[in-house]
Amino acid sequence: MTLWRGRFGEAQQASALRAFTESLSFDRRLAPDDLACSRAHVRGLQRAGLLSPEGTEQVLAALDQVEREIADGTFVFEAGDEDIHTAVERRVTEVAGEAGARLHTGRSRNDQVATDLRLFTKRSLAEVARGVLALQEVLLARAREAGGAYMPGYTHLQHAQPVLLAHHLLAHGWALARDVDRLLSTEQRADVCPLGAGALAGSSLPLDPDWVAGELGFSARFENSLDAVSDRDFVAEALFDLALLGTHLSRLGEEVVLWSSEEFGFLHLDDAYATGSSMLPQKKNPDIAELARGKAGRLIGHLAGVLATLKGLPLAYDRDLQEDKEPLFDAFDQVGRALEAMAGLMATAVFDTEAMARTADSPAAAATDLVEWLVEQGTAFRQAHELVGALVRDSVQRHVPLAELVAAHPALGSAAVSLLEPGSSVLRRTSPGGAGPGPVAEQLERFTLALSDEAGRLGRVGSPRGGPRGRA
Ligand code: ARG
Repeated sequence: MTLWRGRFGEAQQASALRAFTESLSFDRRLAPDDLACSRAHVRGLQRAGLLSPEGTEQVLAALDQVEREIADGTFVFEAGDEDIHTAVERRVTEVAGEAGARLHTGRSRNDQVATDLRLFTKRSLAEVARGVLALQEVLLARAREAGGAYMPGYTHLQHAQPVLLAHHLLAHGWALARDVDRLLSTEQRADVCPLGAGALAGSSLPLDPDWVAGELGFSARFENSLDAVSDRDFVAEALFDLALLGTHLSRLGEEVVLWSSEEFGFLHLDDAYATGSSMLPQKKNPDIAELARGKAGRLIGHLAGVLATLKGLPLAYDRDLQEDKEPLFDAFDQVGRALEAMAGLMATAVFDTEAMARTADSPAAAATDLVEWLVEQGTAFRQAHELVGALVRDSVQRHVPLAELVAAHPALGSAAVSLLEPGSSVLRRTSPGGAGPGPVAEQLERFTLALSDEAGRLGRVGSPRGGPRGRA
């Protein structure tokens, strides 16, 4: 059955057309949102005097039945069910008869699908944010537990200056904090209800979009019916947020790959979070971290794809918009799984802090400390930099330990040699936000507060923010 048999008669649709245009195979996951949307709409119809109290009850009971049938797998989809909206309406009409045939009064699939997808997106954004918070909590716990352990900090993947392991872990944690912030602010912009926009222009019927918005838990209704049915900014924004979050997970994954290599040896993966090789018995591979890295490409592709779909569309609804769902669903799925896997991996990995310290303690890692020591003695920075650079070059070329050259240098001497002692460099990273124990202790407190703030914000998602939400 098509929804447009009046104009088209009962002529059979070409099966190639159905196969090409259907969206049921993927949009059936919107069923809970479609049911919520229909319940609110039906109550709105009753309020507007367009559906009798008995008719309303019949349709609501039919929607309950559809929900049960979908939940227990007895719902029978038919060949003509082009999408979830068609399938639900068809079944409601079968069950509730004439009353069911009134369900679509004053509504189009255009405002319906936009409403369903916003409900889905709002919920999914909050869910992903919860997953991010769980990973941040793991990073925080590992950072606390790392205490004074230190490692080489890198620029250009070359040893730069030692940093506390906690500092490095929290660097990933702060990037994730920005992700949570972005996800929740996207959720706020998605929190506008398009229901009542109809196909594109509103309705002659006395509908109340403000009421139905509140009924569905939205903060506001649409301002412009054309915009309401054609706007997929919330999809693009969600995909951007997920692509950037995926990029952060990719960078974390890349470091896990490096750190677990024999060359680095900074991290040992728990067996439960590593994989073997089908051919090489000795292998323990960081596949999870690699996939966390690999998925980012796909997520970026989803964003680019949806933007390309949107860019040429005239107002208002165009069928191209159906292409928004698969990338959105996939992005949420992939990121959700990546977060869970990386949280488990990071929670169970064993850090080899001795290997880290050994690598960080190369004397050249304290070169900047020598420069800063000279600066404190009154030498101009550029001169100090040149002096120490020349000592390092000399040490490398003539294979003389740097400490010897420092001791022998008139501007440095034995007082400066102590700067090269293992483990001492990181202690001198004292400035706010820096990599040493003082600022990192403060940072741990600030990060803990940031996470409880996030948890608070997440708790409030879905509760009244003002506007029509929660109105009687
Ligand atoms: N399956 C469609 C979509 O996902 C629903 C809206 C169809 N509307 C229409 N006028 N053909 O976008």
